[in-house]
Amino acid sequence: MNTLLSESAASGRGDGSQPAGDVITIRGGRPLRGTIEVKGAKNLATKAMVAALLGETVSTLRDVPDISDVAVVRSLLEVHGVTVDADADGTLRLDPKGAKSAAMDLIDAHAGASRIPILFCGPLLHLLGQAFIPDLGGCRIGDRPIDFHLNALRNFGAVVEKLPSGIRLSAPDGLHGANIELPYPSVGATEQVLLTAVRAKGTTELRNAAIEPEIMDLIAVLQKMGAIISYEPNRVIFIEGVDELVGYDHRAIFDRNEVASWACAALATDGDIFVAGAKQQEMLTFLNVFRKAGGWFDVREDGIQFRRAGDLKPVMVETDVHPGFMTDWQQPLIVALTQAEGTSIVHETVYENRLGFTQALNHMGADIVVHAEGLASPDRRVPRRELEQAAVITGPTPLHGADVVVPDLRGGYSYVIAALTAAGESTISNVGIIRRGYEKFFDKLTAVGADFDVVG
Ligand code: EPZ
Repeated sequence: MNTLLSESAASGRGDGSQPAGDVITIRGGRPLRGTIEVKGAKNLATKAMVAALLGETVSTLRDVPDISDVAVVRSLLEVHGVTVDADADGTLRLDPKGAKSAAMDLIDAHAGASRIPILFCGPLLHLLGQAFIPDLGGCRIGDRPIDFHLNALRNFGAVVEKLPSGIRLSAPDGLHGANIELPYPSVGATEQVLLTAVRAKGTTELRNAAIEPEIMDLIAVLQKMGAIISYEPNRVIFIEGVDELVGYDHRAIFDRNEVASWACAALATDGDIFVAGAKQQEMLTFLNVFRKAGGWFDVREDGIQFRRAGDLKPVMVETDVHPGFMTDWQQPLIVALTQAEGTSIVHETVYENRLGFTQALNHMGADIVVHAEGLASPDRRVPRRELEQAAVITGPTPLHGADVVVPDLRGGYSYVIAALTAAGESTISNVGIIRRGYEKFFDKLTAVGADFDVVG
């Protein structure tokens, strides 16, 4: 029986040392069965909210998940004078009419543990001629530099000044179009260029751009606002700057990362989960790997059903930029691979420290060895990067309960799947990080029959 705090109560303060709802105990060993509904993508909705700053009129964003990453962006927008109101169904209305500068300490106080503030640069420079961006938060899965962002902004004519608490930018002569080639198809840097180029004077050519579905959805948002953006086959994007943009009305693309997370939960626990709102087109690579790992899925009009087809099978997966296997998908998948008969390899090529979470899985009985060297693969889509790691997972290994602390968003979710797969009881702390990216997380665990209590 779950003793369940309401999501809102769970976000309050608990015993003082952790926010309430930050510690849960899980009794595992039973398949997860039920229906989960995914809303709009965390990694689109937060960016589309920033894009509203560029419009002269109100923007409406639909299917926005109720997660703290969205709350952080909302409060940053409000600090800058944007009025934001939200309906219970996840529709946000953002009115940039009152947009104004904000005091640095106020911005700092609202930036939270998020990376999105860096995307305010372009819109604020267009609007106010200046911007202050505090040091960024975000998941500790690597050192998360922003050099691609700052170099791009300088190309547009921004003056970038590093301060002890963040960066101050100014654009005394406005921003002009630029020719930019990204050293790596960075999602954030591509969004930085898009959000800056649409109102710059002249044309911008971006090469080696990220082309994730969330990026294409942001381009759709900007086009609705009046932007002129074209996309060429080989990661080249052209943006013709325009003088004025208006508000948009947009329904966010579904959250691919959440779909993959719950699919892996079904795989690991031998469960059966229907994910409403999931679409096949944007999940093709994931579905191929899911099938090769012994999964079964059925694509329906309103979502995708996920369960095992039979015994789990070992796989070799290399994370990559789109249309490759997303780095955000490898952590939940690894938990399922601990239950497969044989040896799997997961080669993480996007972040330098996104396999650290496997230590706790070994603590629960898994057999995972992480090698610092990546695997040589000559036909790789993007140049080999010096920061690569490969996890070798040998299974099947029965998992047993343990006490673990959530390290990052997807790693934390993976610990919950591992605890639900394990025999016995686990205690998971720092669960608030998971709720940053998974809306109504406790309600969803209950919906699929998880046996857990919120204890702290
Ligand atoms: C976005 O992060 C997502 N976050 C991440 O999802 C996702 O894993 C990542 O894209 C890759 O798809 C959001 O959208 C909020 P990157 P981002 O810039 O934009 C290096 C989740 O779980 N890099 O594509 O920060 C960087 O260090 C999160 O929802 C530079 O070197 O990712 C990394 O190694 C986790 N310099 C690689 O590029 C830069 O200036 C890819 O980063 C920028 C990035």
